[in-house]
Amino acid sequence: MRLPIIAGNWKMHMTKEVSLDYIKELRQNIEGTDVEVVICPPATLLGVLKEATRNSNIKIGAQNMHWEEQGAFTGEISPLMLKDLDIDYCIIGHSERRQYFGETNETVNKKIIAAIKHDIKPIVCVGESLEERNAGKTESLLKEQVTEALKGLKPEDVKNIVIAYEPIWAIGTGETATPEIANSTIEYIRVIIKELFGDIISEEIRIQYGGSVKPNNIEELMKQSDIDGALVGGASLKAESFSKIVNF
Ligand code: G3P
Repeated sequence: MRLPIIAGNWKMHMTKEVSLDYIKELRQNIEGTDVEVVICPPATLLGVLKEATRNSNIKIGAQNMHWEEQGAFTGEISPLMLKDLDIDYCIIGHSERRQYFGETNETVNKKIIAAIKHDIKPIVCVGESLEERNAGKTESLLKEQVTEALKGLKPEDVKNIVIAYEPIWAIGTGETATPEIANSTIEYIRVIIKELFGDIISEEIRIQYGGSVKPNNIEELMKQSDIDGALVGGASLKAESFSKIVNF
């Protein structure tokens, strides 16, 4: 049985005071949940919220990281800096990083290897555009993204990775994938993992769905056989709605 994991990707939102009030409300709302809960705030709030969530069941994740430990990379954040803050997770390869900031399968792979080396659990984003889905390219694209992302890893490294299947056409659009489409696509991703790393790892790895997850659709998504959680954007920006998703 895979432990469900629900993560909130705040993207470029939230300031210190608002986020501290949010965490206070979330802690009360999700006390006793048997779901793993991760909040991924902007980098400016990582330290503050790691402190604010001590002795709670809320983990903290970064939204991105560099693969080098240090160097002349203006504006970047290294894995050592995240470990310095005792950060648990890091989103890697989000479609917005790929679209706006030149993220590639190669840089995703480098970041995953660095994250694992520094005991940071990667949440690895993969997903197709509407054009790719309509052209019947979803499976070939996902096979390439997953294979390239996990290149050079050992099976024991992979089981701590979380994969987030985020169809680009569902992100921020309100056009959530149907539970059936989400599940069948995630089933396929699990087949790819099985081909690469074997049965046991493919059954142990957790795969989230992301793309317009809301309180009114999480329950149907979580009833599916292969969906182990959600990576939530807009609906994670209010503690009330994110709590409803966590408490599905
Ligand atoms: O990383 C999660 C995000 O891309 C999904 O965004 O607003 O569609 O839930 P949203």
